[in-house]
Amino acid sequence: MKILLLGKNGQVGWELQRSLAPLGEVLALDRHSSPHYGDLSQPERLAQTVRDWRPDVIVNAAAHTAVDKAESEPELARCLNATAPAALAQAAAQIGALLVHYSTDYVFNGQGDQPWQEGDATGPLSVYGQTKREGEQAIVASGCAHLIFRTSWVYAARGGNFAKTMLRLAAERERLTVIDDQFGAPTGAELIADVTAHAIVHTLPDRKRLTGIYHLVAAGQTTWHGYASHVIAQARRIQPGLALKVSEVAPVPTSAFPTPAQRPLNSRLATHKLQDAFGLVLPPWQQGVNRMLTEIL
Ligand SMILES: NC(=O)c1ccc[n+]([C@@H]2O[C@H](COP(=O)([O-])OP(=O)(O)OC[C@H]3O[C@@H](n4cnc5c(N)ncnc54)[C@H](OP(=O)(O)O)[C@@H]3O)[C@@H](O)[C@H]2O)c1
Repeated sequence: MKILLLGKNGQVGWELQRSLAPLGEVLALDRHSSPHYGDLSQPERLAQTVRDWRPDVIVNAAAHTAVDKAESEPELARCLNATAPAALAQAAAQIGALLVHYSTDYVFNGQGDQPWQEGDATGPLSVYGQTKREGEQAIVASGCAHLIFRTSWVYAARGGNFAKTMLRLAAERERLTVIDDQFGAPTGAELIADVTAHAIVHTLPDRKRLTGIYHLVAAGQTTWHGYASHVIAQARRIQPGLALKVSEVAPVPTSAFPTPAQRPLNSRLATHKLQDAFGLVLPPWQQGVNRMLTEIL
């Protein structure tokens, strides 16, 4: 099997290099790759790469993920998050490839307190969310076989992440303030990559039935405040000698940290569809976070 991976150095892309390796020949690209082309800002050349290399599966882990920056560069965000996935989807349809793509909880408006189902009406609040939604729609409209995984609050041991930031601040300050009115589930890039590999194997022989949008997040829910508190308590458990100054993690509303892009308050995603379709059990979010903390501490 030939698998084309785009965005190989992102959080999810890096883990996909590992999880896809046993499935076949993986051509992993980033925006600088040559002679095969992996730059999402050149959708036509990207589509040409697909037509030239003729993969059985395309996995697109690249995106414009800078949520606040997207507000001031909507054309670039639209190109990376919607036009490029559309071009990939059309090329996939032409050669009969399966396209795997990632989307986000930010396609929803964040109202209510119930987990969003895949079929619920979308209502993005930001350029990032809007352009990611346009990408989903273009893929579905192309008619290619596809898996679109909507995920949320992604972290990885490699590179910067929210937990590392909290631990750094906890070492510097006695009091932290963290948002407690946004609800979601921290989801590890490892989990996303492992589920992706599993889903590809199941989908290839049964693509008509399994093509679609799926919510892919760890089980349970928390707030950024709950997440930060867990990280600090767990870090103290893992390394009792860790020099952390912090004695209070104070909850604050989203309005305490104004940002260019509006975030949804309710980012809970229901995952029954994914678990039923692929025979999976998604682990509690704490499991992956604890593992990541053990790796980085
Ligand atoms: N992070 C989250 O919390 C989150 C939440 C929900 C959904 N998602 C979705 O999950 C997917 C993976 O996200 P992630 O967390 O792994 O993101 P990430 O770590 O920011 O990785 C995104 C990758 O896209 C690459 N990229 C940016 N512009 C590009 C271009 N013009 N051409 C080619 N590659 C380009 C980046 O490359 P450089 O390293 O060279 O910049 C980076 O490697 C994305 O579709 C994202 O929308 C993420």
